[in-house]
Amino acid sequence: MKIEKVVIRNFKVFREVEIKDLSSLCVFLGANGSGKTTLFDVFGFLSDSLRENIKTAISKRGGINEVRSRNSKGPIEFIIKFRNPDMNGEKQPLVTYELSIDVKEGTTIPVIKKEILKYRRGQTGKPFNFLDFKEGEGSAITNEEEFEFEKQNFQVKRETQKLDSPDILAIKGLGQFKKFKAINSFRRLLENWYVSSFQIQSAQAISDTGISEHLSTTGNNLAQYTKFIFENYPEEFKKILDKLRQRIPGIHSVKAEETSDGRIVLQFKDGSFKDPFISRYVSDGTIKMFAYLMLLNDPKPHPLLCVEEPENYLHPELLFELAEEFRDYAKRGGQVFVSTHSPDFVNALNAEEIFWLKKLDGYSSITRASDDRMVKALVDAGDKPGALWLQGYFTGSSPKSK
Ligand SMILES: Nc1ncnc2c1ncn2[C@@H]1O[C@H](COP(=O)(O)OP(=O)(O)O)[C@@H](O)[C@H]1O
Ligand SMILES: [Mg+2]
Repeated sequence: MKIEKVVIRNFKVFREVEIKDLSSLCVFLGANGSGKTTLFDVFGFLSDSLRENIKTAISKRGGINEVRSRNSKGPIEFIIKFRNPDMNGEKQPLVTYELSIDVKEGTTIPVIKKEILKYRRGQTGKPFNFLDFKEGEGSAITNEEEFEFEKQNFQVKRETQKLDSPDILAIKGLGQFKKFKAINSFRRLLENWYVSSFQIQSAQAISDTGISEHLSTTGNNLAQYTKFIFENYPEEFKKILDKLRQRIPGIHSVKAEETSDGRIVLQFKDGSFKDPFISRYVSDGTIKMFAYLMLLNDPKPHPLLCVEEPENYLHPELLFELAEEFRDYAKRGGQVFVSTHSPDFVNALNAEEIFWLKKLDGYSSITRASDDRMVKALVDAGDKPGALWLQGYFTGSSPKSK
């Protein structure tokens, strides 16, 4: 599934922003404090709200007064538009999920003011609210499946529901309805959303034995995950090693060895020496490149992968291929959001993939590079986007905020 549009209102530094026509790889640039981490946290917030409830998601972030944009009284709102992949060559409808959060009057207790999931029949039909909730009560369509197939004579069947509490998302409460396809794919995105907080030290750690089918967000199970991939996807693992060999001079192979005390150690073999280096003694850049290759070649991609500043510790020449790998990952079934401060990384992108954040009077706007006429014309004429960025071309604010 692919997110095509995001609207954020009154969420921290984003008083009112809209980003649309999102590509599979989206890269966000901006000064410190312009909101890159906050943007990724929209999905963290929704994910926490789904796993727990909005009260927990808000208190984890310091309470309603920290989460709501300063000096604003309006509700915190998110609108996410997404589309499932084409099925049997048929384009799937654009689904809209809307969530509006405020406090119960006269209190600081958060409640869901509005939660809607809707999409339209065909290209022109009228949109149906498949799910329509307010403060813990509302209705959901129970025959979505028929809606998919019997496009002509569709009779809506609606069921009124009451949730246990007004701070629970209906998409969580109605999870038992497996047939709600549009809801389920959105839930899956939030449940399997991944934001990398990769730390070299964690990745260098020796893992306990066990099975890890995915790399953890800190990378602390890299050895376990390597063993899993090596044993279950030998072809993929071979490709990863080939790429690593090409990029890191001297590296010959990597092995995940089980020790006699039941742990797993990563060993990096340098062609020049007989004995391998264990992960603690190889370079930071080697560990990081290996971890990225492992993450990006995961046979089961996360639906949404967010990575902050992937350039750290890596040689600038490696960033071009890294961008290509993010793109391939997205093509295999995920979507990738990246933040960066690296012009070299930006040089590897096209203007549709680049967004810049800019803070003005306390709130940030987001502009897509290809929506800026000057930047688009220069990139089309062959200028490198990273170079344009350095020359100060990425400054305009979004048309909406003008
Ligand atoms: N409730 C709020 N209202 C307005 N601005 C906020 C609020 N909470 C945090 N901020 C601002 O948001 C910014 C946080 O940005 P962050 O996402 O960490 O930026 P980046 O990752 O781009 O460095 C800070 O500048 C902070 O002052
Ligand atoms: Mg940040």
